[in-house]
Amino acid sequence: YGCNTCKSADKPLEGFIQSLPMETSHHRVEKQSTKCGFGLQGVCCRLCANGPCRITPSSPRGICGANADTIVTRNFLRAVAAGSGCYIHIVENTALNLKNTAKIKGELKGIASLDHLADIFGIKEDDVYAKAEKVADAVLGDLYKPEYVPMELVEKVGYAPRVKRWKELGIMPGGAKSEVFKGVVKCSTNLNSDPVDMLLDCLKLGISTGVYGLTLTNLLNDVLLGQPELRMAPVGLRVINPDYINIMITGHQHTIFVDLQERLISKEAIAKANAVGAKGFKLVGCTCVGQDLQLRGAHYTEVFDGHAGNNYTSEAILATGAIDAVLSEFNCTLPGIEPICDELNIKQICLDDVAKKANAELLKFDFENREEQSDIIIDKVIESYKERRGIVPLNLMKEHGNDHSLTGVSEGSLKAFLGGSWKPLIDLIVAGEIKGIAGVVGCSNLTAGGHDVLTVDLTKELIARDIIVLTAGCSSGGIENCGLMTPEAAELAGPKLKAVCKKLGIPPVLNFGPCLAIGRLEIVATQIAAELGVDLPQLPLVLSAAQWLEEQALADGCFGLSLGLPLHLGLPPFITGSKTVVKVLTQDMKELTGGQVIINSDAIESANILEQIIMEKRIGLNI
Ligand code: SF4
Ligand code: FE2
Repeated sequence: YGCNTCKSADKPLEGFIQSLPMETSHHRVEKQSTKCGFGLQGVCCRLCANGPCRITPSSPRGICGANADTIVTRNFLRAVAAGSGCYIHIVENTALNLKNTAKIKGELKGIASLDHLADIFGIKEDDVYAKAEKVADAVLGDLYKPEYVPMELVEKVGYAPRVKRWKELGIMPGGAKSEVFKGVVKCSTNLNSDPVDMLLDCLKLGISTGVYGLTLTNLLNDVLLGQPELRMAPVGLRVINPDYINIMITGHQHTIFVDLQERLISKEAIAKANAVGAKGFKLVGCTCVGQDLQLRGAHYTEVFDGHAGNNYTSEAILATGAIDAVLSEFNCTLPGIEPICDELNIKQICLDDVAKKANAELLKFDFENREEQSDIIIDKVIESYKERRGIVPLNLMKEHGNDHSLTGVSEGSLKAFLGGSWKPLIDLIVAGEIKGIAGVVGCSNLTAGGHDVLTVDLTKELIARDIIVLTAGCSSGGIENCGLMTPEAAELAGPKLKAVCKKLGIPPVLNFGPCLAIGRLEIVATQIAAELGVDLPQLPLVLSAAQWLEEQALADGCFGLSLGLPLHLGLPPFITGSKTVVKVLTQDMKELTGGQVIINSDAIESANILEQIIMEKRIGLNI
């Protein structure tokens, strides 16, 4: 199909995509390269019939009188509210699945996580199922509170010095769903015009997103699906084994797959697969739910070989010809995979109507009927295999990625690896053997030089400066496929970090998995801060969502800012049309929460800025 402009940090993948006979997102970048200047700056408003109005120096107000500050902030708040809503949808379904499982006394694989949650929530119950139901109810109860009733778990889960600051700023969130509702109301036509007031709402949404959608989702997932365990795993397109019936999974809701994961390795299912000539079934990880499965892969070795790639690798995964079905349940499932699925005769099934695809079948996950649904899915996938294998040509990439990336890293498994305490890590930081920590998080996009280009370049620059990198999100998929999560990647680190990695046998980049695991990074940071007796903004810790993509990432970013952390972005959100918004996010935020937004699309410059911040924080801590 010819695409000399398709660019990826992953060179073998780039070559593969360039050679594909069909169009992918990568091919469309060039044709969409002329961006709307008003949209980029966030100064286009189409909230009413007088519009769309666009702000220019000669026309500084819309017809109603709204200025750039108002228009930009309304657009921004609307995006943050939508992003928060996405995460709240995920945690709501996760808690419901836990509650329903507890009710039927189903399997709970992570009892330690359950006990931990019950401890934090102050729930005392001997019976594990009663305990699990109360834990799920505590989360759901908070999500459903009205906006004027503060959520109870924020105080219990949040770090005390942060909660104190949030109270001082008046940004303790009410019910998470109601906060999304309130945000949407606030930025509708002819209502709020105060940019600072709306930005404080963004922080509030950041807190509810972070505490519930990020931190708690992981822990609830762990109860149902098992705690992450460290292990080496293969990554990249090599994980696709044509001897099996392959199901690519995309989305963010791992608990939807609980029953299916077990049933795919049942004797009955394998016999059905054998009958059509396949060895069995494999789930092929793609996007964040794939990262989640990889993270807990120690519990699912029979049905899962590895994570193939992130959102903008999904088309290439399909183009191998060896995927027989796509099961999707949430976002990061690109619309562009639909024509490819049609062309390659790949069955598409959506398990959540919020992510219903036009040419896919909807089989909305229903806990009551999950077993029957799993059987239906298995039969449909087998049918698809029969109709397409041997007819649709294979175009495998057997050498892509690598076979030994470290996975299963979580706040629990990493701490256990360090001997049950963060002291060894703290000692290394205090001694300067590790200069600081950078969380390289969030999405993968096709800007900033191409797919994962800035993310991977920045990560290399950071480790070369002896800064250890922790990742979460689709960024992880790109970084691991480029080899930075193998122990040999220590060679790319600065001399001190390299020595630490070699001694411990770990890579300089540790993969916490899906974007949800930004919540796990927060737990690590909080525990380290608590051990040092300091607040989060004092830590030599920075965040980068170098290639942020979606509205969800903006909600994540607001969480990072509420935590008081420096947040680097490769490209600005659509806010640059308002000097006020830019100033609040990049400067005034330091006084409000301690956080700040840094925008820079050059890897070396960005690394220099982040290193300097880390050095300043070290001086502040007297280390
Ligand atoms: Fe224009 Fe105001 Fe209507 Fe927006 S709300 S489209 S700025 S008149
Ligand atoms: Fe994600």
